[in-house]
Amino acid sequence: MMARRVQFTTRIGVIATTVGSAVGLGNIWRFPYEAGAHGGGAFMLCYLFFIFIIGIPVISAEFVMGRAAHSGIMGAFRYHSGNHRWDWVSYASILAAILILSFYSVVAGWTMEYTFDSVTGHLGNVADSARHAEFDSFISGWRPVWWMIAFLAINAAVLLGGVQKGIERMSNILMPLLFVILLVFCVNSLLMPAAGEGLAFLFKPDFSAITPSVVLGAMGQAFFSLSIGLGCMMTYASYFSDSTPIVKTATTTALLDTLVAVLAGIIIFPAVFSFGMQSEAGPKLVFEVLPSIFYRLPGGSVWSAMFFFLLVLASLTSTISMSEIFIAFLCDEFKIARRKATVILTLLAMVLGSLCALSFGPISDITIFGKTIFNAFDYASSNIILPIGGMVISLFVGWRLDRHTLLSQLASNGRLPSWIAPCIIISLRYIAPICILAVFLAS
Ligand code: PHE
Repeated sequence: MMARRVQFTTRIGVIATTVGSAVGLGNIWRFPYEAGAHGGGAFMLCYLFFIFIIGIPVISAEFVMGRAAHSGIMGAFRYHSGNHRWDWVSYASILAAILILSFYSVVAGWTMEYTFDSVTGHLGNVADSARHAEFDSFISGWRPVWWMIAFLAINAAVLLGGVQKGIERMSNILMPLLFVILLVFCVNSLLMPAAGEGLAFLFKPDFSAITPSVVLGAMGQAFFSLSIGLGCMMTYASYFSDSTPIVKTATTTALLDTLVAVLAGIIIFPAVFSFGMQSEAGPKLVFEVLPSIFYRLPGGSVWSAMFFFLLVLASLTSTISMSEIFIAFLCDEFKIARRKATVILTLLAMVLGSLCALSFGPISDITIFGKTIFNAFDYASSNIILPIGGMVISLFVGWRLDRHTLLSQLASNGRLPSWIAPCIIISLRYIAPICILAVFLAS
């Protein structure tokens, strides 16, 4: 047996950490652009379906596996199955973690550039009509590579310095602030001339627009945004105490994460329509729209600097959680020191991240299955590996896990209403795997 693991001491600590992993660029950058590219309301409807019908049961399943085994993904599969036959799931999740870390750091780097440009006043001097060209010229050059390297260096410094606790404590204070700022921007966006059009785009589903690619995109977004399917939540659950309520924590995490994404949508789309911009702009969307929103308000640079800085911080709590997957794997499997593992991960992510960063410019003609390197990394991890990971985890917990363990973990000292566990189990056994498989087959 393992030595006694340190545990989270408070309930707020538990929620803050799981939400810290979940809330990040996925909500504020990826959700609006995916929704914009996939027809708005149709995407939103599918996204909400996946969050609540599949997301919450799968987070619960990760929590159950992690807490019962007191270990991350590889150890948890071995502990519960008693053999090494499931190791491939962990290999896939490690691959996803490194792919995500690489492209995510590029976008976090863009966010750092925007924080910097807000502070120096440069961002405020760009005319709204020139934002598109300005951002294009920025991402097609080499500067994003340096910012990406800087971001990964900070990520490594946090991991090496063992100051995750410090970062988490800081983000516990600052994330509510991010939330308040989002609310202010929401009100501001709702007062824009085309607010109604923007809201209708986001909330009024056009059912004929629900195509297999929309459904697949929404499923990938749900998994990405909740950080599920690769064992992040499993790792965190290994630090839960026996009384941490699993289903409640899963539901709170999903609700807060979804709330942030929806707020981001409410901020972006009224502005997109009011400024006559393209909702299908892809990964660039948010970076072209947000500054125009901020600089419309009095004290624009302050809003802008604050917002982008908080976004960098939110990204950091997410990259720490994906880094842990890879570091834990190297340390456990190859018996190398944590320091060395962190350095290996960082260098690898810097190389892959450079390819992602440059795929908007110098190497944009290199494609993998018709996608640029950046898009291919994102697509392969979010739309393929995470859902497959989620499917295996739900089948494993639903069918293979010992019944008694599953029920007692879900009940977490008996405070769970009796109808909830059966619902979760039905979703894990049938609904989640069948839906995921169906989406794959259809697309
Ligand atoms: N959920 C994070 C976000 O929305 C991204 C993430 C994905 C983090 C997978 C960890 C694992 O930004």
